[in-house]
Amino acid sequence: MKNIVLIGFMGAGKTTVGEVLSQKLGRIFVDCDTLIEKRIGQTIAEIFAQKGEDFFRKLERECIEEICQREDQVIACGGGAVLDPQNVERLKRSGLIFLLSLPLSGLEERLTLDQDRPLLQEKERGKRIKELWEEREKKYLTAADQVVEVKNMSAEEIADLIIRNYRKLVKEVEP
Ligand code: S3P
Repeated sequence: MKNIVLIGFMGAGKTTVGEVLSQKLGRIFVDCDTLIEKRIGQTIAEIFAQKGEDFFRKLERECIEEICQREDQVIACGGGAVLDPQNVERLKRSGLIFLLSLPLSGLEERLTLDQDRPLLQEKERGKRIKELWEEREKKYLTAADQVVEVKNMSAEEIADLIIRNYRKLVKEVEP
């Protein structure tokens, strides 16, 4: 079975929804960031601080390449995975991509107190989020097979919606 791939901006709920989805479907859940952290033995924040973003992106690319060789998984990607066209191509080939989409105001609200995400540890956080969002919006939309508007929905509801849509899309692709 094709993988179910979750993409979206930081704070959109990819990890939470991915866990619920994997439980509901009895599939393995792979969180790309968690896999990187386990492999390297450092948190994402430590990797950014000590080795830089380029190094992190290289690990992310290797991790996605490896994950995409397996099927029947639920995969949560880091928010920046779509920046690399090769990642998008591999993810697309391995499964169906769902974009968890939340309006900018909702993202800002969820991310105001965040202390872990290295790209957001700046004074003018709202401005930074907006900049990154504008830079990435088109890439998210282009990569997605389906956009899921998650505002005011619980992880449970989002997972159910994705399962319904996944089944429809798979039938369309493989009648
Ligand atoms: C990033 C998002 C993070 C993590 C890293 C970079 C990004 O993942 O991969 O901090 O560039 O948007 P989440 O989207 O799970 O926070």
